[in-house]
Amino acid sequence: MKSFPIRVRLTAWYFVVLAVILSLFGLIAYFAMRSSIHRTVDEELRTRMEGVRQLMERTARYGAEDLQRELREHSVLMEGALLQVSDQQGNWLYRSASLSRYEVPGLQAASTQPSTFVFRDVPLRVLSVEVNVGDQSYLVQVADELDDFYDALHRFGTLLLVCIPVLLLCAAAGGYWMSRRALAPVDQITQTARSISVQNLSSRLVVPQTRDELQRLSETLNSMLERLDAAFKKIVQFTADASHELRTPVAVMRTRAELSLRKARSANEYRDTVAQNHADLERTSYLIEKLMLLARADSGAETLQLIPVNVTEIVREACDQGSALAEAKQVAFREQIPNHPVWIKGDPHALHRLFLILIDNAVKYTPTSGRVEVSLKESDGSAVGEVRDTGIGIGAEDLPSIFERFYRVDKARSRESGGVGLGLSIGRWIAEAHAGTIEVQSSPGHGSIFQVRFPLAKGNN
Ligand SMILES: Nc1ncnc2c1ncn2[C@@H]1O[C@H](COP(=O)(O)OP(=O)(O)OP(=O)(O)O)[C@@H](O)[C@H]1O
Ligand SMILES: [Mg+2]
Repeated sequence: MKSFPIRVRLTAWYFVVLAVILSLFGLIAYFAMRSSIHRTVDEELRTRMEGVRQLMERTARYGAEDLQRELREHSVLMEGALLQVSDQQGNWLYRSASLSRYEVPGLQAASTQPSTFVFRDVPLRVLSVEVNVGDQSYLVQVADELDDFYDALHRFGTLLLVCIPVLLLCAAAGGYWMSRRALAPVDQITQTARSISVQNLSSRLVVPQTRDELQRLSETLNSMLERLDAAFKKIVQFTADASHELRTPVAVMRTRAELSLRKARSANEYRDTVAQNHADLERTSYLIEKLMLLARADSGAETLQLIPVNVTEIVREACDQGSALAEAKQVAFREQIPNHPVWIKGDPHALHRLFLILIDNAVKYTPTSGRVEVSLKESDGSAVGEVRDTGIGIGAEDLPSIFERFYRVDKARSRESGGVGLGLSIGRWIAEAHAGTIEVQSSPGHGSIFQVRFPLAKGNN
């Protein structure tokens, strides 16, 4: 089914509703006027009838001729009113000239209510009443012509029939114009929205200052565009950084291989080249693995299986690996892990990875003869893990950015130690996937404290 624009539908509804209301109004007004005419005429007829009845009661005892004369005079006084009186046999006692013109039959049933009849194309309101005078009974009829009233009523009806459609047309045109005006910003929003694509995601819709739904809609769409824009920029940046990080080691390995193939070399030289390339390949595959993990996390494919886990065991295992790293770098390593189990709901593999990321950083960014301390405790319904170091620390200006992908405070130093700047972003994702938090305090030259918090599992401790 073809769907019409909103403004057409609005106007159509408006038209239909108004048409019903105006038609009802017209009908009610027409019939109210008609019944008001009848009421006025009826009242007049009853008054006249009462006058005639009193006259007849007064005069009847004088005889029929006197009665006729009195009626005639009375009729003249009533200024040619329509009056006729007949006896039981249907003989006319009196018949005003004006009424005899219409030949209203005399033998009509008496009634207390006047009725409308059409005689010779003229509508008449006739009241027929039986009047008993002495032993005689008469049928007295008074009547009034309704044609003048009905003409006025008819003119009123015609006026309604002409005015209602004209009013309806004017109202529909006004309604259409108003809905067009009200919906004009929607067209503008549609046009701008249509022109926004990946190339100009930073464009924004013009917000109409109307303080209404349309202003709210444009503001909501704009804030959605803002989020999309930021997300898109992040993706573009991530792709650029990822390809850069991949290109560098691949270029190094290629050059190394080309150089070694340029002339004949000793077995030792070849072994050296292969060993160097092997080390680079290992780092690269480690990088690819991190990239894959983040990509899966972004797409929602990487979901963690949260089961009750004893986090002390996980931290202890990470410390075993961490202490080996520290030893190799001659950094003192201390751990403070409670002897009782601490249960949280988590993914053991991911949690192990998180603590290793923090310990690895602490060792990596702490110079020889520094100190790294790992601790775990329960506090306020949370399991709190802390990794402290006496290393180089992080400046306040860098602190907000270190959880971003590929962000490294000192790129040269970080690369030297094999870092690409993905560890903490993976760490934050793991913490958040466990409904936990990760926070950092640091002062350059003095060291850093990374703290992770997870809600304790209920019923397991
Ligand atoms: N304990 C720390 N002390 C000082 N600086 C740190 C510490 N931990 C992280 N940083 C800074 O934060 C940056 C980001 O850390 P992140 O772990 O994400 O990346 P990375 O260690 O450089 O590389 P990756 O962990 O991916 O191998 C680091 O490059 C470093 O500059
Ligand atoms: Mg790291």
